[in-house]
Amino acid sequence: MKILVATDKPFAKVAVDGIRKEVEAAGYELVLLEKYGEKTKLLEAVKDVNAIIIRSDIIDAEVFDAAKELKIVVRAGAGYDNVDLASATARGVCVMNTPGQNSNAVAELAFGMMVMAVRNFYNGTSGTELMGKKLGIHAYGNVGRNVARVAKGFGMDIYAFDAFCPKEVIEKDGVKAVSSVEELYSTCNVVSLHIPATPETKNSINYALVNKMPKGGVLVNTARKEVINEAELIKLMEERTDLKYVTDIMPAANDEFVSKFEGRYFSTPKKMGAQTAEANINAGIAAAKQIVSFFKDGCEKFRVNK
Ligand SMILES: NC(=O)c1ccc[n+]([C@@H]2O[C@H](COP(=O)([O-])OP(=O)(O)OC[C@H]3O[C@@H](n4cnc5c(N)ncnc54)[C@H](O)[C@@H]3O)[C@@H](O)[C@H]2O)c1
Repeated sequence: MKILVATDKPFAKVAVDGIRKEVEAAGYELVLLEKYGEKTKLLEAVKDVNAIIIRSDIIDAEVFDAAKELKIVVRAGAGYDNVDLASATARGVCVMNTPGQNSNAVAELAFGMMVMAVRNFYNGTSGTELMGKKLGIHAYGNVGRNVARVAKGFGMDIYAFDAFCPKEVIEKDGVKAVSSVEELYSTCNVVSLHIPATPETKNSINYALVNKMPKGGVLVNTARKEVINEAELIKLMEERTDLKYVTDIMPAANDEFVSKFEGRYFSTPKKMGAQTAEANINAGIAAAKQIVSFFKDGCEKFRVNK
C-alpha cells in the first residue's frame, strides 16, 4: 500500500515522524508531498497511491480522477468541506475526518478566555475566581467533555445540556445534566458553547436565552459564530452592563462589539482553538491509524461520505 501525505501547509516534523511510524509498522510505504503550491504536482503525486492524508488541501473531482488507485482520503482535523464528498462517493472512495483530536486544545482555550474575562481582561482591577462558580456546558460532545474534565481542576460546579447525549452519560462524569437549555442559562455564572452550527442551533443564542444568566454572567464561544444572534446579544449587553462575551470566532459585528463593550468583550483575531502543535500531531497520527485499520480490518468508523 502506498500512503501519500499531501500537505501544502505541512505538519510539524514530529507529526510526520509519528505518521511514518504507523504506516511503516503496518508494512506500507509513505510518500510525502509538502508545500506543493501548484495543483499539477498534487495531480502527479496521487496517480498511484492508495490513501491520502490531507489537512486543508483541496481534493476535488480532478484529483479523484487522477488518483486511479485511491481507496481512502483522511482529513487530519475536524472540518472536511475541502473534500468533494459527492465525487468521492461516485468513485467509491471513503472519506474520513479525525474528530476529537483537537478537543483538548479547544477546551484549554475556553478556560484561557474564561479566566481572562473573570479577571477583567487583566486591567489592574480586582476580579473573581472560577472556583465554586457554576459552569454550564452547552453541548456535551468531544470539546464539552474536555471542558468538564478541566473544570473539575478549577473546582467549578459543573452543569451540562445536550440535546442528544443521554443524561446518564453526562452524570457518569460527575456533571449535573439539566433538562433544558433555559435551565442551563438560568443556573450558570459561566456558559461555554460547544454546539455545532445546525439549522436548530443557528441564531439560537439570543436575547431571551442569555438574559436568563445570573448577574455577572460570562458567555464563552469556541463553537461557531452562526449560533449567536449578534443583534440580540448586542441589545442585551447594552441593557445588561454586567454581562461579558468572549469568543474564538470573530462576530460579523466585531467593530460594534469592540466600540460598545470595552472591558466586557474579547475576540481572538482568527479562530485559534485548534491551533496547537499537539492537536496537529494527534490528528496526523489518528489519520494514519484510521487508514491502517481501514485496510487491515475494513474499519470505517469515521467515514463522513455515504
Ligand atoms: N474554536 C475552534 O477552533 C474549534 C475547533 C474544533 C471544534 N470547534 C467547534 O466546537 C463545537 C463542538 O465541537 P465537538 O468536536 O465537541 O463536536 P461534537 O460533534 O463532538 O459534539 C457536538 C455535541 O453537540 C450536541 N448537539 C447537537 N445539536 C445540539 C443542540 N441543538 N442542542 C444541544 N446539543 C446539541 C451533540 O449531541 C454533540 O454531543 C462545534 O461547533 C465545532 O465546530 C471549534
